[in-house]
This record gives sequence, C-alpha cells and structure tokens, in this order.
Amino acid sequence: MENFETLCVHPISGKEEESRGSVTGLIYPATAYDYINGEELQYPGFYSTYNQKRLARIIANLEKGEWGIVFSSGMAAISTAVLSFAQQNDHIIFSKDLYGGTWSFAEKELPKRNISSSYADNTPESFAALIRKNTRVIYIETPSNPLLKIVPLKAIAELARKNGIVTIVDNTFASPINQLPLNEGIDISVHSGTKYLGGHNDLPYGALVSNLVAHREPIFTTAKMYGGSLSPDQCYLAERSLKTLALRVERQNQNALTLAKWLAAHKAVKKVYYPGLPDHPGYDIAGQQMKGFGGILSFELDIPANKLPVFLKNLRIVRPALSLGGVESLICSPAVTSHRYLTPEERKSVGVTDSLFRFSTGIEHIDDLVGDLDDAIAAVYLP
Ligand SMILES: Cc1ncc(COP(=O)(O)O)c(C=O)c1O
Repeated sequence: MENFETLCVHPISGKEEESRGSVTGLIYPATAYDYINGEELQYPGFYSTYNQKRLARIIANLEKGEWGIVFSSGMAAISTAVLSFAQQNDHIIFSKDLYGGTWSFAEKELPKRNISSSYADNTPESFAALIRKNTRVIYIETPSNPLLKIVPLKAIAELARKNGIVTIVDNTFASPINQLPLNEGIDISVHSGTKYLGGHNDLPYGALVSNLVAHREPIFTTAKMYGGSLSPDQCYLAERSLKTLALRVERQNQNALTLAKWLAAHKAVKKVYYPGLPDHPGYDIAGQQMKGFGGILSFELDIPANKLPVFLKNLRIVRPALSLGGVESLICSPAVTSHRYLTPEERKSVGVTDSLFRFSTGIEHIDDLVGDLDDAIAAVYLP
C-alpha cells in the first residue's frame, strides 16, 4: 500500500488473527504472558508485549522499516539508539542544531561513559572532517530545531557506510508523511511520538525504526536495561492518533507554507526560516528528500526587545507553549526556553536571537492564524 492516507487508517490487515475482526486495535493489559507458547521470549522487550508490538509494527510500516520498538518518551528512544552503538572511548558526530534534551544528553551523560561528541554543520564535508577512528555513530536532525537547517541524508548515509558508522536520524520534525530517512539509506529513524505522531499535545511517547535485523538485538538489550516501557492504553491512543496523521500533517504543511510567505512579506518581520521558501539555503535538498516542507517555521520580529512580550500576550488563538506537532498552533521563544542555558554570545553564535520565535502550525483555518498574528503584531505599535 503506497498511499499514506490509507496506510494510516489501515496500518495492519483486518484479517490478521490478533485483531479478532475488530476494526480497531485491542487493549491487552496483561503484564504476564504464558511462556510455554514462547510469546514473551519472542519479544525481548518490556511487559505489555501485545500493544507495544502492534504499535511498533504500525510505525515501522509508516517509516518503511523492517522492525520497530516503542518507548515511553522520545528521549528514551534517542538514548537507547545512541547507547546501543556507542561504548567507552567511542566518538559520536551530532549535527550542530539539536533538540536541547539531545544536546544535554551528549554534553552531560555521554562524557560519564567516556563517549566524546563533535558537532557538524549541515554539509557532508563538515561531517567527513570530524570522522575519527573511534567514530561509531552519526546522529542527525533534519529539519533542525529551531532554525530548520537541512542535512542531506543520502550523502551522509553513503559517507557513514564507507566508514562503518551507524546513522541515526531524529525524524520528529518531518514525520514519516514528509520524510523517510530509511529510504535515503539511513540506518535508524527515531521519533518523539509526543509531537506529530501523537499529534494532540496529550501523549508522551517515543519510537525507533530500523531496516537492519542485526540492529534488533543490541537495541532491545539496551531498551530493556533502561526501562522506558509504554503502557497498553498509551499504545492504543497512539494507534488511534496515527489514523489522522496524514490529514493533520498535510494541513500543517499547507498552513506553514502560507504563513511563511505571509510573514516574509510583512514589514515587521526581519527574517523567516522555512525550508519551503526558495531563499532558504536547504530548499533544493529539502525538495529532494522531503515530500512536504513540514509544519514548523521560525521568524525574527523587527521590534524593540521590550515589546516582544506584548506580541505574545496579544495572541488569542496561538498559544505560547513549548511542544510542537499537535493540532493546536503553538509559539515559543527559544532564547528564553530551549536555549536559555546558553550565554547570550553562544546563542548569537548559533543564530538564536532574542526576537526569534518558533512556530508550530496546527490545523486551524489559515485565515484565523494570519489574523491572530497580524493583530498581535499590530498591538506592538499601539501607543
Ligand atoms: C526534535 C525532538 N526530538 C526529541 C525530543 C524529545 O522527545 P520527548 O519529549 O518525547 O522525550 C523532542 C522534544 O521536544 C524534540 O523536539
């Protein structure tokens, strides 16, 4: 089945024995399974095997992978993926523009295990220059947070393969509707399911998908050690949310593109970051490796710093909140949220100014979103 709209609604054949004719998944609360029939032993994961296996299979189908595993958060998926392949004295290359939690994991947790990290710009040359004899993992976010930088997946996958390095992509921002890293040659795709996959700002979870059967054993071993098990009810809710993933993401893509164009033409806007605008440096590569440009954009307002809170306070529909990917449009200021632990100089060096806002488009009517932003910007100029 090639069309995502259909695959989201019918991710697993209704004829499969385990669905018992139900058109939805079933919730099995059991944490103990009869080991004589081998069920528990076939899935060396957590307790709630039926629902976890089912959700993992659905997400693997969407990501075009061979197999998957689900977790209780995106960070559990990310830390498991990294720690499955990097041991004492190993080295990892991360893309520079990273989700704050992943950056903290690299800077604060990995050194405790004597694992060192380097940070590459978004070009293959930059990654190639950082490869060492002990480099085991290349870890990429594309589009990145918060500046929507684009990393060319195919080129990095080739580079890594030549050097025997495992590649991991955080596909949270794009979702499988917009980008399929495994089809570009990447080994492992990870998600904060809390964002687009869950899609309603009410469900924390994580997922990991791979094409390589050889990855299964090290990943399941690490996953089991660190816990991070997702409950059967949450698995069911996640499955239900996935039914509308394609619809939601298509609307979010449209809303983001329209808003990016509108903001780019607004006289109070200094700069817009969105890979779907032709002047974005990653526009061509995004066009090759993404089906849609995604629902997140960032922009800088050209207004005095003391007026920035006025803009946020005057939004009526768009909510200032920290997550992304849900049906509600959310806005945040990275300088006082995700990047607040950096010094002003460090923030400047990574391009996060005080007037930068990250906007996660929801599924509201575009006229209402434009009207809300327009009114809030106008309020800044009121005496
Ligand atoms: C790109 C990205 N990856 C990973 C995570 C971590 O996911 P979770 O909050 O589900 O642990 C986040 C959370 O904001 C994120 O934005």
